Order: sequence, then structure tokens, then C-alpha cells
Amino acid sequence: MVDAFTELDLPLADRREGKVRISWTLPRDEAGERRLFVTTDRLSAFDRVLAGVPYKGQVLNQLSAWWFERTQDIVANHALGAPDPNALVARCAKPLPVEVVVRGRITGVTDTSLWGMYSTGERVLYGHRFPDGLQKNTPLPKPIVTPTTKAEAGGHDEPITVAEVTERNLVEPALWSQVTEVALALFQRGVEIGDDAGLILADTKYEFGLSPDGDLLLIDEVHTPDSSRWWVAETLEGRLAAGEEPESLDKEVVRRAYAELGYTGHGPTPKLDESVWTQTSDRYIDAYERITGDPFVAGNQPVAPRLIQRLREAALL
Ligand SMILES: Nc1ncnc2c1ncn2[C@@H]1O[C@H](COP(=O)(O)OP(=O)(O)O)[C@@H](O)[C@H]1O
Ligand SMILES: [Mg+2]
Repeated sequence: MVDAFTELDLPLADRREGKVRISWTLPRDEAGERRLFVTTDRLSAFDRVLAGVPYKGQVLNQLSAWWFERTQDIVANHALGAPDPNALVARCAKPLPVEVVVRGRITGVTDTSLWGMYSTGERVLYGHRFPDGLQKNTPLPKPIVTPTTKAEAGGHDEPITVAEVTERNLVEPALWSQVTEVALALFQRGVEIGDDAGLILADTKYEFGLSPDGDLLLIDEVHTPDSSRWWVAETLEGRLAAGEEPESLDKEVVRRAYAELGYTGHGPTPKLDESVWTQTSDRYIDAYERITGDPFVAGNQPVAPRLIQRLREAALL
């Protein structure tokens, strides 16, 4: 395996460190305030960074770019250009303080997942009433929006109802209604394109922001295996019938490996077998190829010197 790309230092201002992305302010141009987002190979689960997975950053960055292009008729987005396989130049936005999760299926492995709560008998979740008799991993009557507040670094996101978003003045009502409408339309687009690729989009998370002009922008990443659960359609029915979990193209492999060890995000993180990480790298690449229908072309390694070279060529450094 090649080395994972997990750290980068650039001589740019206002560095911000996310769990997966590092971003910096770029000098403004005619597009206004811009930020450079570099997607690393870091893998986060249970709200913490657990490992580096080779090529994951490139997959996420290029897959998001692919989806931004294919959803811009629904909502404007922050993407301006990709100077390197791991980098995105984006419009600077003021992020809305909620993560907009859309779910088409009832699933999850942790106690706080939709399935976890439903299976213990709860029938009102995120303010939505659920019918009796739903089976794990099957479709919901229709896709629903289940917002969570954005936690500060190290904290866990808190689930809230659709109504609480406006009751708590997190987002102004007219804007929130636009956001939920857009999120459901984006999800529908993801389901349709996935369907053509033999994939099922079980659920996903969107982030939105406001441009300096006050326009709604889709920001962050979209329909990647990090923000979404993608399942292989062909094997789903057989697996569910056999009482097995779906074949997923996302970090569910990692989440499940931890769940099998009884780890749900609390206390010290147990060590997983090396094969979990190689398989995860292959899965991310597989996801890219299945969704886009294009072969994945690995960028030159190691990532950091290549990226710096590309940024210089693009006159960003
Ligand atoms: N266009 C944008 N303008 C400002 N902030 C953004 C934009 N796009 C994404 N972000 C923020 O940058 C961060 C991306 O890094 P990431 O590693 O995904 O963070 P996190 O640990 O919060 O998931 C997120 O906090 C996201 O809200
Ligand atoms: Mg993120």
C-alpha cells in the first residue's frame, strides 16, 4: 500500500483544520472571497479521526466535483475549480449551523442510528412519525430530512426535529423551507443517478452556506462515501433475505468492524486488522468508478509535493 496523505502545511492564511479537510483563505479575485480545500486521506468515524486510507482524499475530492456538476441545476454550489486531484478552490460561504441529513432507508448500527432507535420501539424520531413493521435497511415510506446541529470540534452532533431548526432560530423559516426542498431534490437526483449505476443511496448529509450576496450554496462535499451510505443494488435483496447487512461502498465496513468489537465511539479505540484498511481504500475507489462510470486515475504519489507543484502552476502559491 502507498502511504496515506494525512498532513499538509501551506504558506497560506487562516488555516482551518477539519477532520478530513484542511482549508486556507486564498487571495480574493472576481469570484470574491475564496478558500482552498485540501481533502486528506483521513478517515473519521464516531466524530473522530481514526486512520489514513490511501487515495480516499482524491476519491472524495473528485467525486464531489463530479456531483457538483450534476446538481448545479438544482442549487448553486461552492466549487470554482480543482487545481489538483486532492484540492478544490471554492467560494467562501457562511455555513448554516445545521447538517441536513436525508434518509431514504431505515438503517444504522449504533444505538443512536435511526434503526437503533426504531428497533427499541421508538416511533417518533426527529419529529417524524414512523409506521410499525419497518424492516431494517428497507425504504422509508418517503425520504425524510433529519437535521443535526453542527458540533464543535470533539463534540457529537445533536439530532433535532425539522421544526426545532426554526424554533431555535438556527435558520430563518423561508430559507429553511428552501433548504429542505433543495435537499430532497438533491437526494432524488442522487437516487436516480445511483440507480443507473446499480447503486442505492440509503442516506446522505448535505451542508449549505450563504454566499456574501446571501445566495444559498451547496458547500463541503456531496454524495461521497463519507457523507453517504451507498449500497450495491444487485446483492441487496439476497443479503437482506439472509439476514445480512448490505454490501456498502462507504465506511460502514469500518463502522461495522468496530461494532463487532462492541465499540460505539466511546472510550479507547480498538485496533482493526490491516485488511480492513486496504479493503476500505479499494471500496472508495470502487465507489468512484461505479458512480461516475469512469476509471479512477490515481494521482502521482506522494500527494503533498505534487499538490504544492500544482498549486504553484495554478499561481495559487
Ligand atoms: N464553501 C465553504 N465555506 C466555508 N466553510 C466551508 C465551505 N465548505 C465547507 N466548509 C466547512 O469546512 C469544513 C470541511 O472540513 P471537514 O474535514 O469536512 O470538516 P468536519 O470535521 O467538520 O467534517 C467543514 O467544517 C465545512 O462546514
Ligand atoms: Mg466533513
